[in-house]
Amino acid sequence: MSGAMAKAAVRPVAIKADPPTTHRSDDWKATRTSHRPGFLLPVVFTVPQPHLMDVFRVNGSRPLRGTVHTSGAKNAALPLFAAALLSDETVTIENVPDLSDIRFMAEIMRHIGADVERSDADTWKVHARKLTNHAPYELVRKMRASVCLMGPLIGRLRSAVVSLPGGCVIGPRPIDLHLKGFSGLGCGVSIEGGYVHLDARHLHGADLFLGGRHGSTALGTANILMAAVLAPGTTRIESAACEPEVVDLCRLLRAMGARIDGIGSHALVVEGVERLHGATHRVISDRIEAGTFLIAGAITGGDVTVEGARASDLAALLDKLRECGVPIESPAPDCVRVRADRPHSRKAIDVITMPHPGFATDLQAQMCALMAVTPGLSIITEKVFPNRFMHVPELQRMGADIAIEGPSAIIKGLSRLSGAPVMASDLRASAALVLAALAAHGESWIQRVYHIDRGYERIDLRLKRLGAAIERLPADQMPKHLDGEPG
Ligand code: EPZ
Repeated sequence: MSGAMAKAAVRPVAIKADPPTTHRSDDWKATRTSHRPGFLLPVVFTVPQPHLMDVFRVNGSRPLRGTVHTSGAKNAALPLFAAALLSDETVTIENVPDLSDIRFMAEIMRHIGADVERSDADTWKVHARKLTNHAPYELVRKMRASVCLMGPLIGRLRSAVVSLPGGCVIGPRPIDLHLKGFSGLGCGVSIEGGYVHLDARHLHGADLFLGGRHGSTALGTANILMAAVLAPGTTRIESAACEPEVVDLCRLLRAMGARIDGIGSHALVVEGVERLHGATHRVISDRIEAGTFLIAGAITGGDVTVEGARASDLAALLDKLRECGVPIESPAPDCVRVRADRPHSRKAIDVITMPHPGFATDLQAQMCALMAVTPGLSIITEKVFPNRFMHVPELQRMGADIAIEGPSAIIKGLSRLSGAPVMASDLRASAALVLAALAAHGESWIQRVYHIDRGYERIDLRLKRLGAAIERLPADQMPKHLDGEPG
């Protein structure tokens, strides 16, 4: 995010508080609440808005207690925004999380010509009357998910010139399956000057196999789907991803008039149509965010209820939490409660990450943190992103006994970790560091929390409401001798 954008995006604001349930940064709304009688509270206060160089100061070993509500899913919202480009009518997307990645996707979409407006705290309207086919490097390199603009541009304009996304700290993330799928749909595919050039004048339905070395691809399936819905003929996608986020995309596309069968399975069948119309869609709740809060309850020995957590989307995690002895309740279909405040003995378990419905790779780091303070030896194997262990050296700084052997972390659980200054490297690694700091004895400082703001809405405020001793502070308030920033 550029200096000017960063300045524009974050500043303290005076807001009139909505009913206590909301926790969004609502500078967009400060001017609007005045005409909603009865919601203004007499008190005006300032909530420090996230800043690029913020740090978290955490004092651990306090059990979390209370209820937290799950936000809309980032990994569903991003492809849903892209799908809105498939129609020249307005598409309204509700329950959108308030995250930097979302604001960033909106900016890229405006760059290619779409009107993208935030009409309410969590509602966005996209109106893509006219589009251009070019998504530049300086934008795409900042957020990989922007590769899923290719499908809609191919479907809508029959051509796309989109920058290759570039590297990622969690490991190699090629898009060969995306390009193989587009080529199967009759697209000319070439890579020049770091850009993918897609010529789809002869786009047509086809039989495709999208399985790769690490199984199915979530954004790859989304991209191909969004091209196929406007491709003449029938497209069959074998080894399609069936993540809940992909299912959510299929639901929106259907609401826009697309013809898709096999939703939720590894075999999708799409009948191409001439055009798609506008629609309104509510984003599903974020299973990764929900899982992170459940593990926060387990690691602190707390009693945490996560509302909006669909047990069906979390089956693999709940199975593993039960297997390691954490008391779990499901008071309602979309509500899960961790009762780690009850007497229970946690034991080490093995976990292997896999595409859905297997154990989510986006919960692997958080599970490492839990196993680091669970008696016994556990082996966590990362089958989706085999190098995704950036969190391990930082957990070791807190005293964790973890060895990396190929795609596996071998963890000798300890009775406790100690607080330390640590550095976040990516979204889920930073979530694991926050969880470890909540369980650790003493004070931790977590730097580069902008990583966590990309995928968790004001996690510091929501953990604080659960009783955590966590503060978001400007980086310059961190004791210099603890500062891990180079130079
Ligand atoms: C999505 O990424 C998520 N991102 C990731 O979440 C998540 O970790 C991942 O799915 C797996 O669940 C978004 O939805 C924005 P993949 P995606 O294509 O679709 C390989 C987070 O923390 N592969 O399913 O890019 C790939 O390298 C992020 O929120 C190919 O080999 O992931 C990986 O090993 C991180 N060729 C595996 O497949 C391809 O063309 C699965 O990746 C595409 C993928």
